[in-house]
Amino acid sequence: MDRLASRVRPTFPPREHKQGMTQTFTFTLNGKPVSVALDNEETPLLNVLRNHLGVPGVRFGCGLDQCGCCLVLIDGAPEKSCSKPVWSVAGKSVITVEGLGTPQRPHPLQQAFIDEQAGQCGYCLAGILIAAKALLDRNPQPTRSEIAQALDGNICRCGAHNRIMRAVAKAAARMRMATNAGARP
Ligand code: FES
Ligand code: FES
Repeated sequence: MDRLASRVRPTFPPREHKQGMTQTFTFTLNGKPVSVALDNEETPLLNVLRNHLGVPGVRFGCGLDQCGCCLVLIDGAPEKSCSKPVWSVAGKSVITVEGLGTPQRPHPLQQAFIDEQAGQCGYCLAGILIAAKALLDRNPQPTRSEIAQALDGNICRCGAHNRIMRAVAKAAARMRMATNAGARP
């Protein structure tokens, strides 16, 4: 119990509680500025995204910082939104899976996941796509073990890991090919 508690406790500096006082929090969501008025600044970003801003792609899994379903990019870094209080993202950029691509213009990762049928129930995939995006942004040519390491914090209860890893490698290869083609004179 103590071990679990120490793992799930968010590591934020202590703040003076402003609970009960309505405050407005402004940040960028998938490239657009958004504001939300809340009377509890500790409300998890996950709840704000799903319940106040109509962004259902980000998923609630454990709510305990353990499964990775709720991953979003905050200023480019993958973070678990269930353990991020809304005040901590004020003024920052938040990207959810909705911000990666659209059904008409999917991100190469989304297309590769479709091509590889890399999912079963699909519940984990929004978080996995975000983790994979963060990986490819910093390492366009990851090895299999680097992909596994990047997805280590994402639980897939269906056991679709092999297809997921294949899809990430396929997207990386396609993105490299597109970059090289664009760089050719
Ligand atoms: S819902 Fe956030 S890590 Fe599980
Ligand atoms: S595809 Fe079902 S949890 Fe991953």
